[in-house]
Amino acid sequence: MKIIIEKNYSDLSKKAADIIEKEIRNKSDLILGLATGSTPVGTYKELIRRHKEEGLDFAKVTTFNLDEYLGIPHDHINSYHYFMYDNLFKHINIDEDNINIPNGNPENVEEYCKSYDEDIEKQGGIDLQILGIGENGHIAFNEPDDKLYLGTHITDLTESTIRANARFFDSIEEVPKKAITMGLGSIMKAKKILLLANGKSKANIIGKLLKDEVVSTYNPASLLLLHPDVTIILDEESASEYL
Ligand code: F6R
Repeated sequence: MKIIIEKNYSDLSKKAADIIEKEIRNKSDLILGLATGSTPVGTYKELIRRHKEEGLDFAKVTTFNLDEYLGIPHDHINSYHYFMYDNLFKHINIDEDNINIPNGNPENVEEYCKSYDEDIEKQGGIDLQILGIGENGHIAFNEPDDKLYLGTHITDLTESTIRANARFFDSIEEVPKKAITMGLGSIMKAKKILLLANGKSKANIIGKLLKDEVVSTYNPASLLLLHPDVTIILDEESASEYL
């Protein structure tokens, strides 16, 4: 596991963009796993800048997003579809056919989840997976529990996640209670993983993850300790309980 500590969020975002850019320049048809949330927004901004000013080319890149709220329309301002178009896709030259985001309103949930995993497999798996981390250690929406699922599935969001995500909604009551999320299988099969964490609110979980060296389903991010190619980029605040 490679740990990089940058001074602040802006430097963290640039570093993450450097790594993503390098992968795209090495393999123009990169299979890129993407996350939503506040953490990668700066990285997406920097990728957009590099696309517009430096010709970073997304034409052949395929993306798979980690998750989506369940029961929320695609065009809802808080849907992860909306988020991804708003923060990245509509500003770059990605082919819309190459964008994959879990459908928050599948007709047949079981079949849909299976097909999402099969689509990833058909592409040969994810080359580079971008991850954020929840304050409780969740990755994607794999929440702390006595068991974790391998495949894409429907999950109940924990109180802590609902509270953390309420900042994007008018009230906490509006935050969906369920989500569709990739499981640990596709994430752990990614050839490379890049986890980003910034700010004080992530210091505790980052300290636990990097100092305890314990793998537990109650800290889903701890499974990453078993992956052969993980890079973690932190800012000084999120690294403060690790250092
Ligand atoms: C989002 C996702 C989540 C977030 C996590 C951190 O697609 O998979 O696991 O990465 O909740 O969210 P932020 O970045 O808002 O702190």
